[in-house]
Amino acid sequence: METLETERLLLRKWQESDLADFYEYAKNPNVGPKAGWKPHESLLESREILHSFIENEEVWAVVYKENSKVIGSVGLHNDSKRMLPNIKMIGYVLSEDYWGLGLIPEAVFAVMRYAFEGLAIDLLTIYHYPYNYQSRRVIEKCGFRYEGILRMGSQIYNGQIYDDVCYSLLKEEWFQDFGAAADIFHEIDPM
Ligand SMILES: CC(C)(COP(=O)(O)OP(=O)(O)OC[C@H]1O[C@@H](n2cnc3c(N)ncnc32)[C@H](O)[C@@H]1OP(=O)(O)O)[C@@H](O)C(=O)NCCC(=O)NCCS
Repeated sequence: METLETERLLLRKWQESDLADFYEYAKNPNVGPKAGWKPHESLLESREILHSFIENEEVWAVVYKENSKVIGSVGLHNDSKRMLPNIKMIGYVLSEDYWGLGLIPEAVFAVMRYAFEGLAIDLLTIYHYPYNYQSRRVIEKCGFRYEGILRMGSQIYNGQIYDDVCYSLLKEEWFQDFGAAADIFHEIDPM
């Protein structure tokens, strides 16, 4: 898969050796539930999910260049709400120790560029639960357009049902809004 580089981050393929870093943030009860998943209860649980990441060509490990630690994840996924070719949905998570530094907006912007300019995706979608103000801010800062609320759109790991707050960006909107600015990030050689 393509490795992407930003000023402070490397987005690269997940590796077996990332297990300890992954478990460290995935076990935190403040992290997973905001994205709809259960905090990990054991290294074994994290290992199974890590393997699914390793097999996936569009889920990146987010590496903080300053200390070479894996501090989160950003992925492009099929959007189960719009199963059409050339539509992808972005998801992300970050270790609580690194919240508030603008790191995920930086990572998402690089993935947006890769999706629109590298993969020629037509539409990128992104969602958050109504209670997730932090994710809402990421989405706004990355320039996505607000679409509306899909009522009772998702059921999370504990059975709770939530509305989905929906946003998207068309390829044309990306080039119109960010075509030139996107040059501040660059891809490096695939690993
Ligand atoms: C959502 C998330 C990825 C944001 O990443 P980030 O790199 O911290 O993003 P930002 O630095 O741009 O911060 C976003 C907002 O979080 C809030 N914030 C910042 N630091 C915070 C902290 N320590 N605690 C709580 N909120 C904080 C601020 O409102 C900020 O917006 P602002 O820049 O307008 O002030 C991260 O909070 C996270 O991993 N959350 C849990 C998983 C999740 O929600 N995933 C997304 C599911 S849709």
